[in-house]
Amino acid sequence: MKFFIDTANLDEIREAYDLGVLDGVTTNPSLMAKEGITGPDNILAHYKAICDIVDDAVSAEVISTDFDGMVKEGKALAKIDDKIVVKIPMIKDGIKAIKYFSSEGIRTNCTLVFSPGQAILAAKAGASYLSPFVGRLDDIGFDGLELIEQIVLIYGNYGFETEVLAASVRHSMHLIKCAEIGADVVTCPLKVITGLLSHPLTDKGLAQFLADHAKGNN
Ligand code: E4P
Repeated sequence: MKFFIDTANLDEIREAYDLGVLDGVTTNPSLMAKEGITGPDNILAHYKAICDIVDDAVSAEVISTDFDGMVKEGKALAKIDDKIVVKIPMIKDGIKAIKYFSSEGIRTNCTLVFSPGQAILAAKAGASYLSPFVGRLDDIGFDGLELIEQIVLIYGNYGFETEVLAASVRHSMHLIKCAEIGADVVTCPLKVITGLLSHPLTDKGLAQFLADHAKGNN
């Protein structure tokens, strides 16, 4: 299972990378805006800075919603670095753009996916990654994890190569459930990854070991 961090914050990306378990980064226009990154030049430079930290797979999202615009923007993003994955929304022109980039050997991440039908379309168009949003479905009373289960089953039935990238993963239990289901990748905030570290018995056990060691060495 791959871990991607879902942020445009360079410090958090460095911290996750230094932990030695990070496989990539996802961003979106909201996350870029949260870091105060605006204007085309600053945005491209920020993506380059992210690529310089990690080993692979930095999802950079297009803003255009028409085929020509998405192709133009995606090409500019892909030129930044080989690590760039062009992130494209699940709309009609987005599917066409995914097909185009797939034929050009440029990796894509199809985003804003909320149904199995959308997942089938993206895989047929040749998306490298598919981002179903678990937390946002949960937010409106649907079962986000059930969607991941359906997509993993469907992709398995047909041997689709598109990787299931569980997105909008909000807490550590989401991540663990995605691992049980067999999602290829999860993307989540740093706190979800570091949350996996915590167990009260680990803390208690370590405190005891250190106390006993100190007694024996006095
Ligand atoms: C995915 O690529 C998105 O950037 C992200 O996971 C959305 O998460 P949110 O629903 O917590 O904003």
